[in-house]
Order: sequence, then C-alpha cells, then structure tokens
Amino acid sequence: MRNLLITGGAGFIGSNFVHYMSKARPSWRLVVLDKLTYAGNLENLKALEGGKNYRFVKGDINDPTLLDELFTGEKIDTVVNFAAESHVDRSILGPKTFIETNINGTFTLLEAARKHWLNGADAGGKRFLHVSTDEVYGSLGETGLFTETTPYSPNSPYAASKAASDHLVRAYHHTYGLPAVTTNCSNNYGPFQFPEKLIPLMIINALKGKALPVYGDGKNVRDWLYVEDHCRAIDLVLDKGRPGETYNVGGRNEWKNIDIVRLVCEIIDEKVASDGALREAYPFKGKRSELISFVKDRPGHDRRYAIDCTKIERELDWKQLDMFPSGIRKTIDWYIKNRAWWEGIMSGEYLKYYGLQYDERIAGGKK
Ligand code: NAD
Ligand code: DAU
Repeated sequence: MRNLLITGGAGFIGSNFVHYMSKARPSWRLVVLDKLTYAGNLENLKALEGGKNYRFVKGDINDPTLLDELFTGEKIDTVVNFAAESHVDRSILGPKTFIETNINGTFTLLEAARKHWLNGADAGGKRFLHVSTDEVYGSLGETGLFTETTPYSPNSPYAASKAASDHLVRAYHHTYGLPAVTTNCSNNYGPFQFPEKLIPLMIINALKGKALPVYGDGKNVRDWLYVEDHCRAIDLVLDKGRPGETYNVGGRNEWKNIDIVRLVCEIIDEKVASDGALREAYPFKGKRSELISFVKDRPGHDRRYAIDCTKIERELDWKQLDMFPSGIRKTIDWYIKNRAWWEGIMSGEYLKYYGLQYDERIAGGKK
C-alpha cells in the first residue's frame, strides 16, 4: 500500500498511468496533481471519478504551500513526476513556461520531498520517480543507440529544461540521499495523446482529409513505444528500481516520420474502404497519402533518437508488449471511437495556437 502523488496526471502519459495503476495497484491511494494547462484534460480521468482511492487536485507543482498540504494530509510516500510542458515546437516559440514548470517546478517538488521525507524522518520505502525523455541525449547519426551513460547534449529548449530537471533529481539523491530514480523514455503514442503531436495529428487530419504537414525531408527517426508499455516500466521502476539510478525505456521500434505517416494513411484508407459508417463520417475520397505536404523544418530538428533499453530489460525484467503495427492500429481505432474527445480539444484553446501554426505551415511554410 502506498500513497502516490502523480503530478501531470491529467495529461497524455500521466492519465494512462493513473488508469494503469488503478488496475495494477487497486489498494494504492492515487492523488493526481495537475495544473490543467492546455494539455491537461479531466475528460482523460472521467472513468475514475468517485473512486475511493482516487483524488484529483487542481494545482501547480510550483506551489510549495499546496505541496505541503498534500504531503502531510495525504501522507505521500511516493511521487511520480509527469508534470511538464512537453511539446518541442511550443518550446521553440516560447520557452519561458518550460523553464518555470520543467525546471523550477521539479525543484519545488524535490524540495517538498526533501522537507517531508528527510528532515529527521526515515526515508525508508519512499520513492521519487522523475519521468524524463531520451531528448536529453541530443541527436544520433545513422547508427548507435542512447544508453544510460550517453552524455547529455540537449538541443531544444524543451530538452534543455528536461536535462536541467534530471540533473536536479540526480543532485538531490547524491547530496541529500533523496530516494530518487529517473526514467528516460522514447516517443510514446496511444490513447489521450494531445493532437499537436505527430501521430494523433496525422490520424485526425488523415480522417478529415486535411493536409498532413511533414517537417523537412521526413527522414527524421523516432523510436516509438506504446504508452501502456511505458506505464508498466514506470510501475516496475517504482517497485524494483535502485535509488540514484536512471533507466532508459524504448521501443526498439525506429521509424522515419514519413513512413509512419504513410502507414497511418494506409490503415485509415483500408478502414474507411471497408466501413460504410466511417465513409459517411469522413467523406474524403482520395488516397490519403496524397495529403502529405512537406513543410519548413523544425529549427534545430534532432535527426534520430533510438534507445538501448537493455538495462531495464535485464535488471527489472521489463518487456514491451505492443509493437507496431498492432499498437498503431489500436491507437487509430481509439481516435476513431473518441471523436468527441478530440473535437472538444480542437474547438477550444487548441485552435488559438495550433490552428494558426497549422495554417502557416501548410500555406506559408511549404518548402
Ligand atoms: P502532456 O503535455 O500530455 O501532459 C503534461 C501534463 O502536465 C498536463 O496534464 C498539464 O496540465 C500538466 N502540467 C503542466 N504544467 C504543470 C504544472 N506547473 N503543475 C502541474 N501540472 C502541470 O505530456 P506527456 O506527453 O504526457 O508527457 C508527460 C511527461 O513524460 C513529461 O515530463 C514529458 O517530458 C515526459 N515524456 C514524454 C514522452 C512523450 O512521448 N510524450 C516521452 C518521454 C518522456
Ligand atoms: O522522444 C521523446 C519526446 O517525444 C518527448 O520527450 C516529447 O515530450 C514528445 O513530444 C516527443 O517529442 P518529438 O518532438 O519527437 O514529438 P512530435 O510528435 O512533436 O514529433 C515527432 C516527429 O515528427 C519529429 O521528428 C517532428 C515530426 N513532426 C511533428 C509534427 C507535430 C512532423 O513532421 N510534423 C508535425 O506536424
């Protein structure tokens, strides 16, 4: 039995993790703290409302008073920190909130854990798990993989802010003995991913017959992992990971962006062709790959990411269960079934940011 604080639990991976843990660890108390930025959505957690071991708190990880209340009132003994600004493109347009949340927010959370767990008390059994990214390692050439000992070399403001937070977590373990672990994961995909990210954006635009903006030459490579496999890795690291260690998590599933977009188009064409109701809902008649539009590249665009996940496989016996194409098919089906979810998002705040970005990319930004 643990009292687990899940920060950023209303976002994409965080909400998948809350659902996962409510099944995998039904006796644990799950306290979700989320600021509900544009990326946080209570709809993601609706199915859990009213559960006796579940509580949602709207708030900022940068609020030490609120953290004090939660650590004391809920007797928090475990933290999983998902809260972050997570989109590279947004970090290029406006890095400030990335510094505020990813760096200062992680610092405030670490201070709360230090105060409540280490001041004279016994830190035995406590765990602080910081969820991070492979982007801290920079960009790979044609070959090679990121391991836990690859030097940090972040390239975007987002990656730099995550790298800074990882260093703080490391320092709190090394200096104060905080029982902290960090996971560095590759690109996730699956249900509840905000439609600014590559896979949901392409699924939705392909369904609707809108242009599919591929940055640069489309040959940048990402290593894709189904989100539930990431959630299981985090649960394992909480259970068996060694404090002070970092664990890489990845899919051994490298894809060029253009190939993913083509695959999404093919699967959707196939589904629409064999389903009359879908044809009525999404009347676009052409071949969806013809919607692909190569647009101006992301500044500083990292060429290739790929994770060596041998350590977590060997030490914690982690295995991924959902490789492509089964994971991508499940994801496409989820977006088809949950049209109201993404339409809700796309008619609100999203439009102010993404609608403009998208139009600019497709119209002005074409290569
Ligand atoms: P997301 O943007 O979907 O969700 C982030 C959540 O954090 C949102 O619910 C948001 O409201 C909340 N949040 C933001 N600022 C906050 C603050 N100051 N206080 C409290 N809550 C706040 O992000 P995601 O894709 O689910 O990523 C979650 C974590 O996993 C991030 O730390 C990210 O760096 C890391 N990560 C993501 C991926 C990926 O592929 N998406 C891969 C590896 C690591
Ligand atoms: O590697 C882990 C990281 O993966 C996480 O830390 C980040 O939080 C997460 O957002 C993701 O970062 P990426 O920048 O890799 O994800 P994104 O979905 O934004 O882009 C994936 C690739 O697709 C990247 O090479 C850029 C490209 N792309 C993206 C969009 C949104 C396009 O070509 N067109 C697009 O419209």
